Amino acid sequence: MTSRIEWVRSNCRLLRAITAEFAATAPFRDLTIGTGIHLEPKTVALLLTLKAGGARVVATGNLNSTQPEAVEYLRAQGITVIGDRTTEEREHDQYLREVLRAQPELILDNGGDLFIRYLESPYERLRGGTEETTSGRMRLAGLRSQLAPRPILVINDSPIKQFAENRHAVGQSVLESYLRITNRATNGRHVLVFGYGSVGRGIAASFRNAFATVSVIEIDPVLRLEASFDGFDVPDRAAGLKTAEIVITATGAQGVLAEADLDALRDRVVLINAGHFPAEISVDRILADPRVARRHDGPEGVTRLMLTDGRAIHLLTAGHMVNLGGPRPLGNSIESMDLGFALQARCLEAVARGRCSQDHVVVPVPATINALVAEAFLELYR
Ligand SMILES: NC(=O)c1ccc[n+]([C@@H]2O[C@H](COP(=O)([O-])OP(=O)(O)OC[C@H]3O[C@@H](n4cnc5c(N)ncnc54)[C@H](O)[C@@H]3O)[C@@H](O)[C@H]2O)c1
Repeated sequence: MTSRIEWVRSNCRLLRAITAEFAATAPFRDLTIGTGIHLEPKTVALLLTLKAGGARVVATGNLNSTQPEAVEYLRAQGITVIGDRTTEEREHDQYLREVLRAQPELILDNGGDLFIRYLESPYERLRGGTEETTSGRMRLAGLRSQLAPRPILVINDSPIKQFAENRHAVGQSVLESYLRITNRATNGRHVLVFGYGSVGRGIAASFRNAFATVSVIEIDPVLRLEASFDGFDVPDRAAGLKTAEIVITATGAQGVLAEADLDALRDRVVLINAGHFPAEISVDRILADPRVARRHDGPEGVTRLMLTDGRAIHLLTAGHMVNLGGPRPLGNSIESMDLGFALQARCLEAVARGRCSQDHVVVPVPATINALVAEAFLELYR
């Protein structure tokens, strides 16, 4: 039987094409690439593409997300993987520092963890690299003058990543996760989405396409107007919560749903977080509230809270990102990750080849690379 890693690799058409090209052009010959990124099947495909380009790859994972099969596979393919799955911040910190001890010429960062540690003991041969996330961009933007003159390209700020992953793929995978974890229908259900950024609008559209009645709560009036123009109800918070049977947070903020909302929630409501931080739903504060009489752990990924007045509240994946939790989480679609990782490979190639100017420090992916990747996708996925 084909393993999931092989399935993912064989379906990443962009990365396959880039792998074949890099094997001939070797943009990373004699270079080391250091990374700290979720080690799972899709990142395996990316790291092997970089290796095919001649890189020595030194990798560690992120907190709690490392998949042992991915580590085993990478090691068998000659990638140096530091450490294993850990939930301990201190241990994770040691793994990141060990990646930097290899003094990589290029860094593929996720959340700014490596570049920030690099600044503690900088070394001459770093050429620059990439940052995958918004949260990393926010951490690194204030450090531009210290990171200069090394180019750092931010993948999240590519329009391709915004619409292909954040909007379309997360919308689909949150819907898929709801169906997989609860095994309940969406037809005719009242869904309330908090946040109408890229992620929220994809979730709202996916649930509407699944025949739910979707409303949106958004603090920015312009985006609230856009949600209304897109055909969603935009009730006030209290009215929205009163009717909602499924509530989904996608704001990047903290404490969006908390114990103060307990009285407003409908019996049997399902609470879901799709945002990066598990604190969008204040689970600890809700659990500590005296109105919560009992807690049952239901099927994998479902926690049922019984309130003193007899109502039940269902919380999925303990408030962690729903599309990376519950039984057999798959994350976002292969196509969306193939696009994002093709951007990664092309950006690292540009930095390695010295094609980025020295003032490209913590800036979005260059338009030429977006165009190249878009053309290639349209061609290869015809
Ligand atoms: N689950 C995934 O796979 C995945 C993938 C990409 C991003 N994310 C995460 O999803 C979150 C949202 O990402 P985005 O790109 O849409 O961000 P964004 O900043 O574009 O949109 C967030 C929106 O939420 C609104 N908002 C903030 N606080 C609010 C509140 N209390 N009530 C209602 N609206 C509020 C903001 O005004 C904004 O429009 C982030 O945490 C991001 O890291 C998750």
